[in-house]
Amino acid sequence: MKALVYHGPGQKSLDERPRPSLAAPTDAIVRMLKTTICGTDLHILKGDVPTCEPGRILGHEGVGIVEETGPAVATFRPGDRVLISCISACGRCAYCRRGMYSHCTTGGWILGHRIDGTQADFVRIPHADTSLYRVPEGVDEEALVMLSDILPTGFECGVLNGKVAPGSVVAIVGAGPVGLAALLTAQFYTPAAIIMIDLDEGRLDFARRFGATHTFNNARDDVVGAVRALTEGRGADTVIEAVGVPATFELCQDLVAPGGIIANVGVHGHKADLHLERLWSHNIAITTRLVDTETTPMLLKTLAAKKLDAAALITHRFTFDQILEAYETFANASRTRALKVIISH
Ligand SMILES: NC(=O)c1ccc[n+]([C@@H]2O[C@H](COP(=O)([O-])OP(=O)(O)OC[C@H]3O[C@@H](n4cnc5c(N)ncnc54)[C@H](O)[C@@H]3O)[C@@H](O)[C@H]2O)c1
Ligand SMILES: [Zn+2]
Ligand SMILES: [Zn+2]
Repeated sequence: MKALVYHGPGQKSLDERPRPSLAAPTDAIVRMLKTTICGTDLHILKGDVPTCEPGRILGHEGVGIVEETGPAVATFRPGDRVLISCISACGRCAYCRRGMYSHCTTGGWILGHRIDGTQADFVRIPHADTSLYRVPEGVDEEALVMLSDILPTGFECGVLNGKVAPGSVVAIVGAGPVGLAALLTAQFYTPAAIIMIDLDEGRLDFARRFGATHTFNNARDDVVGAVRALTEGRGADTVIEAVGVPATFELCQDLVAPGGIIANVGVHGHKADLHLERLWSHNIAITTRLVDTETTPMLLKTLAAKKLDAAALITHRFTFDQILEAYETFANASRTRALKVIISH
């Protein structure tokens, strides 16, 4: 089969690889229909994720058809159309029993990281019963790919941890796919204002189209002053960090209102300052989270009910043979105006 293989920092190629086979009785083999590329795949290619070793097939998102199931798989049969979660979960360990699937002792984020991933003709899915979801009737499969990772990430790590509430003021730093996923799902709770902040005008255009009430470019605007002016000097009740660099985590600390929450979503590779000398008296909370995908069943229902426009995040389409071109497009987002790319078999 064909597979997109990571060969060390800066190196990848579309290679011929053997088809995966069942390794445990709880495994399923899935024939891929559609996949996509994540910002995290670009992090791996930069060498930021040393736990991902050369030779690994990348990808942790997608939709496919079950090809084969191990004898212990009870929920799925060959021929079933399934959504693949970016998080694999055994459903039994202490972390899984409390819904913290991201920390599953034999799963978590392993696909396209510690085991071969979804950017291939076939993929082996461990703990298939608790890591796959049946595709609901009538749901657009391209839109569904957005539920493998970015929508649960924006929703769980940003909106839920940030306790977005009716009438509240939300500020989201970073209008990439994850920040925009937080923007889309924050609207479940009808906040009074959603302020999006980014350096890229193209991304801020998307944010306005997706329901941002205010947008600011922090390369140009006095964002802190503008947010204070909008909130009678208070700041934002929920501040979502969706970039992953020290400067944006510090900006979040300037934007949060007394009594507010900073919900960190970004993957950070460097230490960042915490201004306790100012914030100690502000009654704030800071949360961090690796996406658990525990809200995937709920997000599937909102998608099926057309209450969530996940397809809006898709800007480009490629065939699997064109995956290297898809990477080029996705990696040069400010020039190509790419958000999510769909790669179809
Ligand atoms: N916590 C989790 O489980 C989890 C899961 C998936 C992704 N992530 C992380 O979420 C973050 C966002 O993901 P994405 O795919 O949207 O990334 P992305 O790189 O596509 O988007 C980041 C956005 O931030 C903007 N930006 C960069 N520097 C900025 C600055 N100084 N000020 C304001 N904006 C700035 C960029 O223009 C871009 O629009 C990444 O760090 C990613 O690794 C976390
Ligand atoms: Zn991802
Ligand atoms: Zn587990």
